[in-house]
Amino acid sequence: EERERQQMRKALDLATKLFHYVLVSTKHGRIAREYLENRGVRPETIKEFQLGYAPSSFQFLLSFLKARGFSEDILEKVGLITSWERGNNKKFYDRFRHRIMFPIHDSQGKVVGFGGRALGDGHPKYLNSPDTVLFHKRNHLYNLHRARSHIRKNLQAVLFEGYMDVITAWQAGVEQVVATLGTALNENQARILRRNAGTVILCYDSDAAGQSAAMRGLEQLKSEELTVKVAQMPAGMDPDDYIRRFGGTAFKEEILATAMSLTAFKLESFKKKYHLQDEDQRMKYLSEAIEVIAELPKAIEQDHYLRRLAEEFQLSLDALKEEQRKATKRRK
Ligand code: CTP
Ligand code: MN
Ligand code: MN
Ligand code: MN
Ligand code: MN
Repeated sequence: EERERQQMRKALDLATKLFHYVLVSTKHGRIAREYLENRGVRPETIKEFQLGYAPSSFQFLLSFLKARGFSEDILEKVGLITSWERGNNKKFYDRFRHRIMFPIHDSQGKVVGFGGRALGDGHPKYLNSPDTVLFHKRNHLYNLHRARSHIRKNLQAVLFEGYMDVITAWQAGVEQVVATLGTALNENQARILRRNAGTVILCYDSDAAGQSAAMRGLEQLKSEELTVKVAQMPAGMDPDDYIRRFGGTAFKEEILATAMSLTAFKLESFKKKYHLQDEDQRMKYLSEAIEVIAELPKAIEQDHYLRRLAEEFQLSLDALKEEQRKATKRRK
């Protein structure tokens, strides 16, 4: 058991080193090097994140590791190879082919799996290691081992969707950054964030998928001890796009510093459902907004958002307060 785990760790380490070597020092890695260069990833960043390239071959990693004494059984268990069976003939081959490789580390900095991005338009765009005895996606945040000290220092964690968002941000000097591994934020990850940060800023892609993921993430993170905020990307952008275009300082000052509170984010996103020029629709929005405000635990917070609403819609604060009192009563 323990020996098997050690073998698995060793295989992951060797694979990381091999993929990295192929990327930075071989002619097979040239296309991948150019791809990363075009995306603005600098050589020292490639080194820091141990990025790699898995060549097109079906047997590249497999034969390399077999020659070093690893069994197919171990390599399959750790997710580096897969197999297909025809009759009683089982054939093994490399899981990751012609992909940029992102090693995923656990909180102690040991590689536990990989994300692999297709070069160009290959499908699927990202292929991740399967869950293994060493790697439970639910328990991990990408980049946590590098970001943790920065999260503690800044009293703040920034949560992204993607590997490239993390890497580009880090490279631009925004270091308190982590990402979920292609899944919705879950309870375990929320707990990790709560343990390390006072504030979590959700910074998801500006597309519909990203926005609904942010909404679900908010619900997951809601807690007494944590301040949760949502940062908004300009339409059509993700954090990687933004930072490459405008830089890390702009990202901090324009995006992170203007992140909205949970309530403001909810109010903004509900607003998008209604045509506010229409009076009926406007009233429906206001009722929904008041429900959101009535959920707030603190009277001063309620007062703050009611005032904003009164100003925005040219309404009397007293009328809004009256409605909010009714909404609160209904909730009890
Ligand atoms: N993801 C995944 N499997 C996919 C697509 C996405 O696991 N088929 C995960 C990856 O971790 C990815 C994240 O979801 O980084 C966000 O997806 P997306 O926004 O589509 O990718 P980007 O990170 O923006 O990738 P890129 O900039 O390279 O296109
Ligand atoms: Mn684990
Ligand atoms: Mn996306
Ligand atoms: Mn994205
Ligand atoms: Mn992207």
